[in-house]
Amino acid sequence: MTTPLAPLVLGIETSCDETGAGLVRGHELLADSVASSVAEHARFGGVVPEVASRAHLEAMVPAVDRALATAGVTLADVDAIAVTAGPGLTGALLVGVSAAKAYALALGKPLYAVNHLAAHIAVDQLEHGALPEPAIALLVSGGHSSLLLARDIAGDVQPLGATIDDAAGEAYDKVARVLGLPFPGGPPIDQEARGGDPAAIAFPRAKYRDQTLDFSFSGLKTAVARWVEDRRAAGASVPVADVAASFQEAVADVLTRKAVQACRANGVDHLVIGGGVAANSRLRALAAERCEAAGIRLRVPRPGLCTDNGAMVAALGAELVARDAKPSLLDVGADSALPVTSVLV
Ligand code: KG4
Ligand code: ZN
Repeated sequence: MTTPLAPLVLGIETSCDETGAGLVRGHELLADSVASSVAEHARFGGVVPEVASRAHLEAMVPAVDRALATAGVTLADVDAIAVTAGPGLTGALLVGVSAAKAYALALGKPLYAVNHLAAHIAVDQLEHGALPEPAIALLVSGGHSSLLLARDIAGDVQPLGATIDDAAGEAYDKVARVLGLPFPGGPPIDQEARGGDPAAIAFPRAKYRDQTLDFSFSGLKTAVARWVEDRRAAGASVPVADVAASFQEAVADVLTRKAVQACRANGVDHLVIGGGVAANSRLRALAAERCEAAGIRLRVPRPGLCTDNGAMVAALGAELVARDAKPSLLDVGADSALPVTSVLV
């Protein structure tokens, strides 16, 4: 007798500038197709919402078709549709939500409108199996930097702390701009930092010693900009690699220190890191070092699953289906400010 296959879940992601379509069965990743409009935003130094929405519209169906072809399945094989309902850019979210509703209605399959942030955590199940419960999650992306207590990734996610100003990814993007590096700033800064000295410049580490689990990156971003401006005003060259490495060290230092603090304060010995900044090589290395020293088990998905994609949405959808969660209504809307506590809408 063969074991029945877990339901096939199609995940759709359009919260920012990546159009993602992923296919997942249980914890198994079958396809992850991502089309990015990043090149269209590069000259503006940030994502232009209207440009992103239009790009999603054009990329949506081809992305789904590519995912189906990669997985060797057809739409008729899909058992459920999951889609990012928020948080994110309203117009961009609407494209994905509308497409997901259309697929659900046409196929007569249930729709799960899910939280983008919870999906960034759930994606780790595709790589490392079932998430331990409870777990502390450090979620670091272009729009968010939070510490969460995930008692149950399908339903009980509580915020412990968050940035009071800029997100970590936002700081990367702004610092890259100051240094004349391309958008998005994370990958080029990560690259430059490899050839620099992380101790070259002592950039500030805000909220480092306070008892909260909040972050602040706006002062760091300004400190880097001032330092670079002063150098230029003095007619000196800017040591880009050293600035990148020193900035990156400040970010990784604060994020990992607070993540370990969150684990200790809540008596939790599992840490999951997710979101685009989790692709950062220094953050991954320092987190591994500090977790090992503190006796905390660390899980970080591979870099390609950290940045926005459809597989993460399918992963969370598959978890909800496995737990018999009640599907969303077909009149569900997009919510640009969906709180992290709403895993399923
Ligand atoms: O999760 P994500 O793809 O989109 C949002 O939900 O925001 O995160 C995008 C952010 C950008 O700010 C980008 O600069 C940052 O993730 N990022 C990185 C790296 N790769 C992407 N930051 C640091 N190091 C990286 N290697
Ligand atoms: Zn994201």
